[in-house]
Amino acid sequence: MQKCAIVTGAARGIGLATAKQFLEQGFAVALVDRDEPELNKVIEDLRENVIGLPYDISIPENAEAMVADTLNAFGRVDVLVNNAGVADFGPIEETDFTRWRRVMETNLDGVFLCSQAATPALKETKGAILNIASISGLRASTLRVAYGTSKAAVIQLTQQQAAELGEYGIRANCVCPGPVRTKLAMAVHSQEIIDAYHDAIPLNRYGTEDELANVITFLCSDKASYVTGQIVAVDGGFQSTGVGLPALRV
Ligand SMILES: NC(=O)c1ccc[n+]([C@@H]2O[C@H](COP(=O)([O-])OP(=O)(O)OC[C@H]3O[C@@H](n4cnc5c(N)ncnc54)[C@H](O)[C@@H]3O)[C@@H](O)[C@H]2O)c1
Repeated sequence: MQKCAIVTGAARGIGLATAKQFLEQGFAVALVDRDEPELNKVIEDLRENVIGLPYDISIPENAEAMVADTLNAFGRVDVLVNNAGVADFGPIEETDFTRWRRVMETNLDGVFLCSQAATPALKETKGAILNIASISGLRASTLRVAYGTSKAAVIQLTQQQAAELGEYGIRANCVCPGPVRTKLAMAVHSQEIIDAYHDAIPLNRYGTEDELANVITFLCSDKASYVTGQIVAVDGGFQSTGVGLPALRV
């Protein structure tokens, strides 16, 4: 029977690239995104072996509905990629509770809710959860009090999931992207930030959506059948670099 992946935040960016790679690998894919017009366009283009689910995944009933609709359409869930995320960069004193919650409800609550809702179906297939965090969850930085904290929590949540769900054969791993030129990143990266990232990243460049999707789909595949609880930075070397001062470069 055809395998099935759910990808949240799949109407564009890293989520869309991931959904396309799963399709190339023979999966049926449920693409979930609250941007309904964009999602409809994507579904029209992709056509076969896909459904579009226009849900906001931060709402508990929607997480349940997302799984129920996927089971109705494809009969099983083998993979859940919790990719939907929002970025909001601001100083601590200007991050009011509304801004804090707006980030937490998608980036953290959504990952918890969708994973919980998919767990019974994933038990059936001995499936895989793949959470998208960020280098901002691995290394602290200015202006990321909400975003960085939400992503650090996703890293811990992944390890909790791996610890508890392993006995059912469910694997849980986490990918931490470095900068990728998506709509999310370009909304908060000025030219100055882009230049500074180039200086701080050993590979000297941004990553691409496909470079992220390559690792995401690998960790969800049978080739990674003994890998769980892992946090993989796909970041051109940013996280591993301590004294990576541009002044020390040749
Ligand atoms: N692009 C980067 O530089 C970068 C770096 C580190 C981590 N990430 C993470 O990668 C993931 C994907 O980011 P991207 O850059 O592709 O962003 P993007 O903005 O291009 O795509 C994100 C998609 O998620 C959807 N979405 C957001 N909140 C949602 C919700 N509550 N319910 C349903 N859909 C929702 C949006 O509508 C959008 O289509 C995010 O979790 C992000 O934090 C991105």
